[in-house]
Amino acid sequence: MSQSQDHAKGTFLVIDDEPDILDAIARLFRREYHVLTAQTVARARELIDEHNVEVVMTDQRMPEMSGIEFLSELRTTHPHIVRVLFTGYSNINDVIDAINEGHVYRYISKPWKPVELRLFVSQAFEYYRSKRERDELLERLQEANEQLEQQNALLSAANEELKLVDRVKDVFMEVVSHELNTPIAIIFGYTYLLRKEMGEELSSVGKKALAGVDSSAMRLKNISKRIFKMLDEETSSTTLELTWLDIDKFVDSLREQLDPFLQKRNQTLEVSISPETERVLADEDKLTDLCLNLLMNAIKFSYDDQTIELDIGHDDDGEQLVITVRDCGVGIPDEDVSQIFDAFFSTFNSGHHSSGQFQFNKRGIGIGLAVAKRFAEMHGGHIQVDSKEGEGSHFTVCLPARPREDDVAAFSRRSSSSSHQLPH
Ligand SMILES: Nc1ncnc2c1ncn2[C@@H]1O[C@H](COP(=O)(O)OP(=O)(O)OP(=O)(O)O)[C@@H](O)[C@H]1O
Ligand SMILES: [Mg+2]
Repeated sequence: MSQSQDHAKGTFLVIDDEPDILDAIARLFRREYHVLTAQTVARARELIDEHNVEVVMTDQRMPEMSGIEFLSELRTTHPHIVRVLFTGYSNINDVIDAINEGHVYRYISKPWKPVELRLFVSQAFEYYRSKRERDELLERLQEANEQLEQQNALLSAANEELKLVDRVKDVFMEVVSHELNTPIAIIFGYTYLLRKEMGEELSSVGKKALAGVDSSAMRLKNISKRIFKMLDEETSSTTLELTWLDIDKFVDSLREQLDPFLQKRNQTLEVSISPETERVLADEDKLTDLCLNLLMNAIKFSYDDQTIELDIGHDDDGEQLVITVRDCGVGIPDEDVSQIFDAFFSTFNSGHHSSGQFQFNKRGIGIGLAVAKRFAEMHGGHIQVDSKEGEGSHFTVCLPARPREDDVAAFSRRSSSSSHQLPH
């Protein structure tokens, strides 16, 4: 018999203090099962520890302990083994009780006919296998259930977090739209009143102070407007208003808005438009915002006297409008790159932080790129960055040349009255 066939056979342990009976049973079953025999309970325990026994059959009358007692013990130590009993005992009640209490699976009385015993043992093995299969299935089911429960717990935790974020956002929008804007309006009201009432009486220091109050309030107003706009674009409804834009006019308007800052930094904006790109189909306000955010960053994060490049064109098959903004400025550290498009991410540094500035390396509140990304995606496009710290950054925006309805459908919401504005 080959080793593998031997392995396929179930292991059957028979316990009886009479060697003749053990011999007879071993001979009867040796073809079908791997038969082990024990004359004592102690030997039986050893064999059970050494082998993968599936069915144990014991005589009820044993010198050290009764068969039922041994099988009860086995039920605790090796519950998966099927326990059967044979007995010539006339008092069958103990056996029936043992079966009813679950210590013994079945019994057969002596003397038996070999056919009967074969059937009896084969049923015990059958029972072992079906129980094993059921246990395995149950185990798998339990594992799947546990996984499900874990996933459910994760989901509901994520849900809770989302609800919280949503609530925070609502409260934040409320604060921005009322709590901030109201005092800003009051500041403007007072500076207006002061100018009107005191007019020429104001000393030059007073006038300067008033202008300072006005410009700070204006900056505050701009920040509040930008934050509100970003949150509003995310939560409420806006429709893309796609129109054909003349690219030269579009670039002129960008240049006009950026010129004051370029001049102050003595920087140059070099624009290159590929000849086939005369018109683009896009939402003018959003595309303007997107480009201004990228270009203002390029101004801030470049050194004085440097050149910033803006390239606009189509890809080879004319499917994508590709806009790139390249600077040779400070660049972005590797560890920050994955976060720069997150709202409110700004590599905060108290020395550099000062919102509303175009000066070298001034960080703002960190919403410019979040807005740019959002607007690119609203058009069915995307934005990416390639940057090296100390060498400069290269932002690429790809938009479908002809945004299709279903590309923008996900973002298609009620009309927005947003108008473009400089990031600062
Ligand atoms: N061209 C660039 N070169 C180097 N770093 C950049 C560049 N553009 C963006 N960053 C980095 O990414 C961060 C996020 O940019 P983002 O435009 O979102 O915010 P911000 O410019 O700091 O503030 P905001 O645009 O809201 O006024 C910046 O603070 C800066 O650290
Ligand atoms: Mg910015």
